[in-house]
Amino acid sequence: MELEEIKEKLKKTLKKKRYIHTLGVADEARRLAAIYGEDTDKAYLAGLLHDCAKGYSTDEQKELAKKYGVELDRDLLNSPPVIHGFLGVEIARRDYGVKDEAVLNAVRYHTVGRAGMTMLEKIVYIADLTEKNRSFEGVRELRKTVDKDIDRTLILCLKQQFAVQGKRENTIHPNMVYMWNDLLINNKDKEQ
Ligand SMILES: [Fe+2]
Ligand SMILES: [Fe+2]
Repeated sequence: MELEEIKEKLKKTLKKKRYIHTLGVADEARRLAAIYGEDTDKAYLAGLLHDCAKGYSTDEQKELAKKYGVELDRDLLNSPPVIHGFLGVEIARRDYGVKDEAVLNAVRYHTVGRAGMTMLEKIVYIADLTEKNRSFEGVRELRKTVDKDIDRTLILCLKQQFAVQGKRENTIHPNMVYMWNDLLINNKDKEQ
């Protein structure tokens, strides 16, 4: 599928604000890929598709996950906003013809990360938060370091996210904890 065709389809599927965010993430992911020596086309495509499952309601997402064999364990069922990353992989595959596993993994892990994230996965994760249309408290802090040290920026970002989830007494998906530990351990090694 050509990029223009993908954009047209996303535009029809997503709400306007989500579509604008999607374009912002694609641009930011491509920009970061150029800085960090990652494939800019893959970053742009993963950015475009990262929220492709967001056109569906939570109930529809759960139904589609069942239909497509996406396993929803207790942790996922307890954090419904996380499901769209895992489901998005199947939608990107089936509705947008994406076969590249590196791109699909960047879609899969963009909400919760994992231990041992690839550079492409890190880029899409952070681009989702630092793209130009985002305006939450703390985004400025992330934008300050994102071009210089992506790992440090991800650590800051998780600190912010844990604080928010903690305050709301929300469950935290274990992948985020694995991601956190992995980043701290790897970056400690780097400093030594
Ligand atoms: Fe998302
Ligand atoms: Fe997003």
